[in-house]
Formats: sequence, C-alpha cells, structure tokens
Amino acid sequence: MICESNIQKQGYDFSPYSDEFTGVVNEALDQWRMFCVLPEYSKKLIPYHGDDMGVGYELKQGRGGEGESKENFDIEPGYQIPALDTFDPLIRVRVLNFLDKALVLTKVTEPLVSKVLKELGLVECEFVHFVRFLHYFSYSRVGDSIALPHIDKGGITIHLYESAEGFEFLSYKKKSWQKVLVPKGNIMVIPSLQIQYESRGKFRALCHRVTATKDVVENGRFAVVCFVRFMNTPRYNKPKFGQLRTLSPGFNYDISHEKFSDFLKV
Ligand SMILES: [Fe+2]
Repeated sequence: MICESNIQKQGYDFSPYSDEFTGVVNEALDQWRMFCVLPEYSKKLIPYHGDDMGVGYELKQGRGGEGESKENFDIEPGYQIPALDTFDPLIRVRVLNFLDKALVLTKVTEPLVSKVLKELGLVECEFVHFVRFLHYFSYSRVGDSIALPHIDKGGITIHLYESAEGFEFLSYKKKSWQKVLVPKGNIMVIPSLQIQYESRGKFRALCHRVTATKDVVENGRFAVVCFVRFMNTPRYNKPKFGQLRTLSPGFNYDISHEKFSDFLKV
C-alpha cells in the first residue's frame, strides 16, 4: 500500500508487487533486454510517433555529461501490434516477443494505477497511462548526468523496476540530492506535475535525475516506468515555458498554488 503521508513528506513511497505482477514484469524486462541488443536499424523500424503520449522506439545519444544518453520504448494498452512482415524473420520474432510481453504489462498496470490513486485519495481522477522501457548506455562516465533534473509532466509516475542505482531526487526540505533505489519486487510512486495542481500543493512534484554510477558505466542501466496522465486536469504550458527540464530544480517546492497554476494551461 502506498502511504499518502510518505508521498507528502518525502516525495516517494514503495509497495510490494503481487505475485502475478512479478512474473509479468520479469518477462517483459527479459524481452526488453533482448530487444536492446538488436541492431540499431531494426529497432528504428518502429520509430517513436505521437505527441508526448506516443508509442515506439527513441534513441538519445548525448555524451560527456551533456544531455540524455539512452534508448527507450513507450507502449500504451491500446497499442495494435503491427504485422512487421517486411522484417528479417529472426528480428521479427525478437521484436514481436518484446511487444507481446510489453503490452501485457501495460494491461496489468491499469488496475495498479487505479489502486494507487485510490490510496492517495484521488478516486475521481480519470487517467491514461503508458509504460516506458529504458536502457541507459554504459558509455557514460561516473558522475555524468544521464537524465537531467526534471519533474514529470503527468499526474503520478510509478517506477516498476531499476537494475542499478543512479536515481536521485531533490529533497523537499534541504534541497539536496538524495539517492534512492527501487527495492526488487516493489513499485515506487512519485508525484508529478498534475497531482501538485490537483491536490493544491498537498503533494509536490518530485524533482529527480539519473546519475551514472560505476555500475552504470560498467553494465548500463535498465528501468521500467509507468507514466500516468490525468485526463481532466490542466497540462504543463510548454509553449510558454519550454521544456520542463529547463526550469530550475525545486522551482515548485515552495510556491503557492496560484503561482504553480501559472505553469499549467488552465
Ligand atoms: Fe522523470
């Protein structure tokens, strides 16, 4: 169970998986690792498309501490798996195996999201969600920021798996960077932009980043995250304020609800 006051005070909380969920996450994760070792051209055959709730494969190759250095695949429950007839048969099997398992994961995640929202007192919130499979590359240097500080733009974010340390959050009180690792077999819930608006500041969107550790440099880092968007809550006003990661870390921690609302399109 996710504890409301932990989310309120520290900005995150954990809850153990159900047995059914454990199997689904592990299977999807195994297939994601297999997908990642495919040649780059074949992964790019399912390119990312859509707005910020899109589907598909994305590659970002920022190096030397500048920008993000990762590949990811986003998938939502309504995704129609394409026939992939033109693919090389061996690659096709590998891609379909991944898409099948990933799709199952998006479906079993839906009741989990409803449960978490209920535990946070947000029963009325209509939502959509998608699952992102991440692979941070091993070519970074220790200390490099492989995901720059930002808050997530949806309502809540549920971390389903992390293979290694590296996730850091900016603490509410001292504004210092703290490490946290999702324990195996647990979800970690963090508040994002829309829940801060919806709760009028009771929950504050947690600023976080990913920093390369020795383990990441040697082995890379795999993660699976579920992003939840509230349908009837205003969204971040990107045309006016630009990318969320350009706002200063912690900008939203000590401001009034009225000031925070300015950042959303009402
Ligand atoms: Fe994030």
